[in-house]
This record gives sequence, structure tokens and C-alpha cells, in this order.
Amino acid sequence: MAGIPEHLLKRAQEARDKAAGKTPAADAGEPTPNLPAKTSEAKPVPAAQVASAPPPPPPDPSYVVAANTRKKIPFWAMATLSLLPFWALLYALSVKPQEKTVEGPLAIGAGVYGTCAGCHGAAGAGGAGRALHQGEVLKTFPKIEDMLNFVYTGSQAFISAEIKIYGDPNREGGAHGTLSYNGNPMPQQGEKYGGGLTDAEILGVVCHERYEIGGADEESEEWKNEYEMWCSPESEIFQGLENGSVNYDNLAETFAALPTPPANVGTDPRPSGK
Ligand code: HEC
Repeated sequence: MAGIPEHLLKRAQEARDKAAGKTPAADAGEPTPNLPAKTSEAKPVPAAQVASAPPPPPPDPSYVVAANTRKKIPFWAMATLSLLPFWALLYALSVKPQEKTVEGPLAIGAGVYGTCAGCHGAAGAGGAGRALHQGEVLKTFPKIEDMLNFVYTGSQAFISAEIKIYGDPNREGGAHGTLSYNGNPMPQQGEKYGGGLTDAEILGVVCHERYEIGGADEESEEWKNEYEMWCSPESEIFQGLENGSVNYDNLAETFAALPTPPANVGTDPRPSGK
């Protein structure tokens, strides 16, 4: 206890004495118990002197002094410093190798199709989900808008809306009713129904299923237009979906001026061609 200043000890003693009913004067003369007893001649400190000396204000504890004298971070540096983790992230992203070349719908769709392949088969031959290859999916959806709508909403939304057939009702080989394959639904993919894909990813995977799996030939007269407009790397519709300037509800309106304007896709289940 070497650090306790003298005046504090004295104040504490005074307080104790006051509680015990002694006066400071009586106190002053009191011999310290563990010192040899003073003789009666020993002059105590005059009481007046003790009482008149006002105790100096206690000095600040060392940690308060340290806090007060410490150099502060200047306010203008705070903005910069608080962005440090952000710069670190940007740096990490910028040094990551950029292996992407063409990020068109088909490139995106090939990756997304991994989540569909478990049910539809890696090459679209079917399994827990319907076969998509050998023109099957094109028969169901001659128009890409209808396929986008179905993949976005999934079977359950059609069932809830009491729409029994999805795709072309005059489908070659028979119309596809909801739950008509093995009693299982096609899971919804769109954001509105809690699906995990963005609008652009849905277009990507639908393009992949039509042009890489389903058998549509982008060079043919039949599919050239659709491919250019929706699935080519230059597709303005795809770019609009990707940068968020359009969505499936306003797309038809937004691109109404194109030579062959797109039909409504929509995010509510609807019969084909509506
Ligand atoms: C859990 C299994 C499962 C997954 C995963 C799945 N599907 Fe399906 N899909 C189905 C089933 C089952 C059907 C039939 C739906 C019905 O009968 O109502 C179907 C139907 C379809 C159809 C209609 C085919 C036709 O000609 O009738 C398309 C298109 C389709 N799925 C696309 C996709 C896409 C794209 C993905 C991935 C984003 C995907 N599916 C993921 C099970 C699945």
C-alpha cells in the first residue's frame, strides 16, 4: 500500500474518529498504537494546524491521466479507418483470377443447371423430374415466356391457382398437367415464392435447357429469333434482368419496341399463351 498519499490516510482516520465521537484535536495527540508510546512531553501537532490545512484535491488516478493525455484518432481518419475491411475485401476480389470469358445466359445457365440435374438428369433424360431432352421440353413450351413463367412459379403455385395444365394444352404427345409425371411438383425457383434463383439465373437455366439439352438449334429459322433476343450473350433482355432494370412483370412493356416484342412472362402462374 505504498501508493496511498498521506492526506488520504489522514482523511480516512478523521472520518473514523468522527464516527467514534472524537475531535480532530484529541486525535492529533493520540499515539500511533504500534509505535513506542510517546512521552507526555512529546508535542503533538497543534490541532489548529491540522484543521486549517484543507486537504488538496485527490490527484486523478493514473488510468484517467493516461486516458486524458493519450493521442486520439483524428475524426477525419475515422471514415477511412472504418472502410479498411471493405478495402481488404475489394483487394481479395481483385486478385482472384478472372476465369470467366463470356457471361451470357448459357454460361450462367450451365452452372445453374447443376441444381436441376439431380431430378432431370445431367443430360436431361429425366429421373425424379420430367425428361427435357430430345425436344420434349420444346413441345411443352413452344414459347420461352411460358417456360420462364412455370420455372419461376413451380407446380405448387399452379395447383393453388387451380390451373391444371402447364405449357401447351395442345402439346404433341399430350398436355402436361400438374403432378402428372410421378405425383411430385416442380419446385418453385423465383424469388417471389422463396426460390433460390434470380430472374437472370432463371433465364440462363431455361436457355440452357432449350439450347444445350432440349435440342433447339440457334441457327435454325425456327429458333434464331428467340435465341438472339433471349439467350445470346448480347441479349438485352438478359442484360436488363441481370442489372435489375427489368423483371418478369415489366419485361414485355419495357421491350415492346423490339421488332418481335416479347410476350408477358409474369410472376403469377398462368396458362400458356396468356
Ligand atoms: C426435386 C426435383 C426437381 C428439381 C430439383 C427440379 N425439377 Fe423440374 N420438374 C420436377 C418435376 C417432378 C416436374 C414435373 C412437375 C409436375 O408434374 O407438376 C418438373 C418439371 C419441369 C419442367 C417442365 C417439363 C415438361 O416438359 O413438362 C421444367 C421446364 C423444369 N422442371 C425445369 C427445371 C429447372 C430449370 C430446374 C432447376 C432450376 C428444375 N426443374 C429442378 C422436379 C424437379
